[in-house]
Amino acid sequence: MKATAVAPSNIAFIKYWGKQDETLRIPENGSISMNLSRLLTTTTVQFSAELAEDRLTIDGQSYPPDSIQAGRVTAHLDRIRRRAGLSERASVVSQNNFPSGTGLSSSASAFAALTVAAAAAAGLRLSERELSRLARLGSGSACRSIPDGFVEWLPGDSHESSYAVSLYPPDYWDIVDVVAVVSVEKKEVSSTRGQQAARSSPFFPVRLARIGPKIETIKGIMARRDFPAFGELVEAEAIELHAIMLTSTPSLIYWFPESLKLMRLVRQWRAEGLPVYFTVNTGQDVHLICQKSVVPALTDRLQDVPELQQMIINEPAQGVRLIDAHLF
Ligand code: DP6
Repeated sequence: MKATAVAPSNIAFIKYWGKQDETLRIPENGSISMNLSRLLTTTTVQFSAELAEDRLTIDGQSYPPDSIQAGRVTAHLDRIRRRAGLSERASVVSQNNFPSGTGLSSSASAFAALTVAAAAAAGLRLSERELSRLARLGSGSACRSIPDGFVEWLPGDSHESSYAVSLYPPDYWDIVDVVAVVSVEKKEVSSTRGQQAARSSPFFPVRLARIGPKIETIKGIMARRDFPAFGELVEAEAIELHAIMLTSTPSLIYWFPESLKLMRLVRQWRAEGLPVYFTVNTGQDVHLICQKSVVPALTDRLQDVPELQQMIINEPAQGVRLIDAHLF
């Protein structure tokens, strides 16, 4: 009744922002992502008849049952208990190898790892598709951390039809995401809350009208492995996401001055001939997207940026998996 899973975070090239169904986390649109090799969450779950309530420890800190984090975990465990016909409470210990809550998509790796560890600990044998659907109920982007490599989340319009699939394995394309960490300050507005405001942006209908063709375009670009076209589209998509955030009510500004400085530097470096692009999520850190051969030149330049606190170099990665090394 004990199981451990390790899951990657993922970076969306086409973003998930806005939900058709808040409870089921059915997104307004499909999204495309890549699993990240160096942003990992490991989670051990053990169900036990001796526990009176679920216990949660994240990065060495224990969370009381009435905390937001523990509430979200217990709600997710309840889904798995219901499915397995189990009433036992669980001990959950989770370890991130990166700063959480700062926009590095810790909820994606967290809920992917929790889903797979809890399902295995509960004795459930579920297909990749079922695990992706289940992970989605915990955090939307988590459904994309289940399959391998480059992933598409098919938005669907029901619990059954909304899940993620692998488009290509990790070794298909040598894309690297160098995460430039500029601050480990926690974000003020969570993605879940921010997304509730998406529809209030006057530009949201414009985004939705164009998103289907955009997904087809990026899939064509990925099929051709056309990096400059890929980078241009990914960067434009990130700017569009933030245009929606900036123009929603309440208006959301996730960038720090340091984020903007890096975004401008990327454009300057590109003008100087370095093929690098950026994308940004709900946080201050900037994801620098390039091909593997460019990483040494890029990291050289980054060393000289005083605002940079940490660099995390990610290659495409496989999805979630069970491991034998339990955390307790
Ligand atoms: C900007 O998956 O964190 O990173 O479903 O409410 O948990 P919830 O939201 P979440 O949102 C991720 C938003 C994003 C874009 C993306 O990863 O696609």
